[in-house]
Amino acid sequence: APARGGHRGLLGFEPVPTSSEDAFTVPEGYETQVIIPWGTPIRPHGPRWNKDASNSAAEQAQQVGMNHDGMHFFPLGHGREGSRRGMLVLNHEYVDQQLLFPDGDAEMTAEKVAKALAAHGVSVVEIERGRDGTWRVADSRRARRVTGATPVTFSGPVGADHPALRTGSRPLGTLNNCSNGVTPWGTYLACEENWNGYFGTEDASWSPTAAQARYGVSTSGFGYRWHLADPRFDLAATPNEINRFGWVVEIDPMNPGAIPVKRTALGRLKHEGCTVTESRGRVVAYTGDDQDGDYIYKFVGTGSWRVQRALGRSPLDHGTLYVARFDDDGSGTWLPLTHGTGPLTTANGWADQADVLLRTREAADAVGATKMDRPEWIAVNPRNRDVYCTLTNGSGWDNAVTPRQPNPYGHIVRWRERGRDHTATTFEWEIFVLAGDPAHDPSVELAPEDVFGSPDGLGFDDDGRLWILTDVSNSTQNLASRGHENIGNNQMLAADPRTGEIRRFLTGPRGCEITGLAFTPDQRTLFVNVQHPGEATRAWGEPTPADPRAVSNWPDFDPEGRPRSATVAIRRTDGGVIGA
Ligand code: FEO
Ligand code: CA
Ligand code: CA
Ligand code: CA
Repeated sequence: APARGGHRGLLGFEPVPTSSEDAFTVPEGYETQVIIPWGTPIRPHGPRWNKDASNSAAEQAQQVGMNHDGMHFFPLGHGREGSRRGMLVLNHEYVDQQLLFPDGDAEMTAEKVAKALAAHGVSVVEIERGRDGTWRVADSRRARRVTGATPVTFSGPVGADHPALRTGSRPLGTLNNCSNGVTPWGTYLACEENWNGYFGTEDASWSPTAAQARYGVSTSGFGYRWHLADPRFDLAATPNEINRFGWVVEIDPMNPGAIPVKRTALGRLKHEGCTVTESRGRVVAYTGDDQDGDYIYKFVGTGSWRVQRALGRSPLDHGTLYVARFDDDGSGTWLPLTHGTGPLTTANGWADQADVLLRTREAADAVGATKMDRPEWIAVNPRNRDVYCTLTNGSGWDNAVTPRQPNPYGHIVRWRERGRDHTATTFEWEIFVLAGDPAHDPSVELAPEDVFGSPDGLGFDDDGRLWILTDVSNSTQNLASRGHENIGNNQMLAADPRTGEIRRFLTGPRGCEITGLAFTPDQRTLFVNVQHPGEATRAWGEPTPADPRAVSNWPDFDPEGRPRSATVAIRRTDGGVIGA
């Protein structure tokens, strides 16, 4: 396709139009294969998925979880072999209890809580591309599930023996793993986002602490009602259990016996993801706190990460956590969240660094961080080290980095660290693109055929293409009255960061979000995730349907089955580089 503006662009595919069909569409010359939908056994001889959702909790714990999200492909072998075989590691953000149980979620039982926990967490599956060109799950000793019930431990300033983590039972599990990260030493980071929603209580004497209120902890949570059947999730019965959530979790994809470790130096918040890079030998991790009005953080490791590892320490345990201040003149400053620095003193009620980390949001409030429109994924341009963050939507705040009040469509901000050094404490920023529809918002500079809303997933490939994945919410946004009627189903686009050119690469089935972004090293297979196809919606002018199959039955289209989150492997029919 001809590049616009005469520039020989990075984008070589014919864009696809918007879609409201119950289908997954890609450009001419591309082919797709659905792999590992919810319920797929993680080893080929594991328990089969029952389409009436009658699998037990124990079976679910040996199957791919629900609501696929952040993902990474770790190659096995070098060269061409590494693009034919690898460990695909992916998050399962949450569960739809209506779909997860044969009888829905009206009644909550201990077995149902156990199955819900087993459908959360992370799947580690070995996949290979066969002689016929298709991907399949291989039998693998490395395959495993990390669920909401897997033993975990803690490291960093809030150590495993910290009093705030004591409950009388060993720490278990990870929940609401949204986006992810990958370390230079080959581990996977799963991030805990909306963990507050799993907890609740019937105890009328319970009331939230200031920190709990800041994290949105409440008696009813998000309506899971696990606390009715499992005291672990009862805020009054097990008050410290919730302190075990809100962290970044490190998982070794090659060693199924390695216990997942929550790296507390990265702070406790609603971590969307954790994007790891390095400068001057030091590890740097960027993470957004996805809440309207919350902040962007970065962690800078102490000293060389290679030296730290050689000394037997985790590079993620020793360093400085910062929060971002975006000034209206286009400059920015990273503010340290270090006990004893600025307002974070003992005299002001901060006991120590562990206290600062357990109450990261309040610490960031105290130092004067800049309110953002829901920071989601963060990506680093491999060509010039610019950092990009999706601000998916929000109310808009009194600052230039949130230029619309309200901001139903979201935008992408980018910044350049001083000297292109990720360890720097100052930066310069600008808005990369305002999402939305120019028919409703004249400040949107997208051509009518390029409209999109609520950018969420974000990542660069090795050639410097910026991939943008969208999550327009069915419940709150996808209504004609909100100006989304031309945008259609959620989608993925590619941008050329030098020219600003953006083209739509794919559209998902009805009700879904497009998320998870992983390439094989040769960039000739792209894996993306379709999350929550069929999510109840009023976008089509109808009342919210009781049966999600009335919205979508992707990917099986089985009237007796149910819509399932799944990974889609995308290749070019000529075997070329994706997007080129
Ligand atoms: Fe789980 Fe912020 O998306
Ligand atoms: Ca997200
Ligand atoms: Ca989102
Ligand atoms: Ca989601």
